[in-house]
Amino acid sequence: VTPDKVDGVSYDLVIVANRLPVDRVENADGTRGWRTSPGGLVTAIEPVMRANHGVWIGWPGGTETDLEPFEHDGMSLAPMTMTPEEIEEFYEGFSNGTLWPLYHDVVGKPEYHREWWERYVSVNERFAEKAAGLAAKGATVWVHDYQLQLVPEMLRRIRPDLRIGFYLHIPFPPAELFQQLPWRRQLLEGLLGADLVGFQLPGGAQNFVRLVRQRVGHRTQSGTVFLPDGREVRAAAFPISIDAKGFEELARKPAVEKRVEAIRTALGNPKKIFLGVDRLDYTKGIYARLRAFAELMGEGHIDVEDAVFVQVAVPSREQVEQYRILRDDIDRLVGRINGDHGRIGRPAIHYLHNSYPREEMAAFYRLADVMVVTPYRDGMNLVAKEYVATRYEDDGALVLSEFAGAADELRQAWLVNPYDINGMKAALLEAYRADDRETTRRMRAMRRQVTQHDVVAWAEAFMTSLTDLDGDGPHSTIV
Ligand code: G6P
Repeated sequence: VTPDKVDGVSYDLVIVANRLPVDRVENADGTRGWRTSPGGLVTAIEPVMRANHGVWIGWPGGTETDLEPFEHDGMSLAPMTMTPEEIEEFYEGFSNGTLWPLYHDVVGKPEYHREWWERYVSVNERFAEKAAGLAAKGATVWVHDYQLQLVPEMLRRIRPDLRIGFYLHIPFPPAELFQQLPWRRQLLEGLLGADLVGFQLPGGAQNFVRLVRQRVGHRTQSGTVFLPDGREVRAAAFPISIDAKGFEELARKPAVEKRVEAIRTALGNPKKIFLGVDRLDYTKGIYARLRAFAELMGEGHIDVEDAVFVQVAVPSREQVEQYRILRDDIDRLVGRINGDHGRIGRPAIHYLHNSYPREEMAAFYRLADVMVVTPYRDGMNLVAKEYVATRYEDDGALVLSEFAGAADELRQAWLVNPYDINGMKAALLEAYRADDRETTRRMRAMRRQVTQHDVVAWAEAFMTSLTDLDGDGPHSTIV
């Protein structure tokens, strides 16, 4: 192993994720710097990183080649560079053109290309080597998400002394879908390099264990896999969450409250505001949701003078063809709905293709009377939880797909099947018309759930489970 330490330091906790938790920014004077990115994964991991003086290995986006390890906001970051070919074949290709649609119920059609797979293997290898070079003896390495499923096994081969955890942020599909994958066995074996494999829901862990039994032939018992060499691998569910308190505090800020009023006025003071917030992704069900809303307008249930729909669509994976097609489809639909139902100065859909800082998002959430989260399949969906966290007056209605992981916890939402347009229309209308007593009763219960099960509890549960696996040995306890 070549020494590859940040300032000669090796770390007791190594986070390995496809993305670094920072984005490139251009300063006013033209120099370039970094800004902590607003994504869900970052908010989840950051507290654990800080508490344990860990290092985070990941790709900062782009194709810069001369990136050195650096400190940002008190975090040690070790950037992985990526060549244009790696971006195309590993990131856009195998990760987001093969695994992403396959793991999301084939909502989009997965493509299987051997060159993509080969690049996935070589990039996973590079991540594993980087982690091997930064981890102290007996350190804990926590590998994240579908882009890096081979890393646990590759890492264990170089560094058998490490304790390795893996967490999948997206759904793990049933055997019937997973077995389409030409490299199914290699992926399962990659994950089996970990001591603990975490999933959002128990169903994902069960799918995984069943596949390991069927496809790799190992003995399993409930959540444990027994390997021929005597090692055991645990599979379990750890539903991810958000910094609920932080979001509530943000929402209570006078600046955010002011912003809420400014946006409301700009929208023309409608009686009610519907809101959708998603990465622009075909798994999110944006198209069907807007159609459902438009039909309610067309049928006279909702008038554009009374209610508008604000849809924030965060640009995502724009080089991948399915995402371009989706963007065109949504552009066209929004234009059509506004043409049919809008009036001068009053569009029915306010469509924003942009990403916003957390404060602005908090203002949007505070503004929304009806929050509409209708993915066809989603590992968790943190937007639903963020909305709940900002509703400190126990008001506001959440319409939530039963196919989002969050639906397991947020039982008091108006739960919908996003494939059922009429069902969705009925739920939207009910949520729109619900009285205060009803929304308060539901929101209060959901807020209790989200505040009691926040991201700190999630990370602690995973880390405790990982470090408690055998109780003794050279590993230090990391929380
Ligand atoms: C999902 C995935 C993450 C990913 C994020 C943004 O939440 O689980 O691993 O980082 O989407 O997607 P991107 O392709 O921009 O990293």
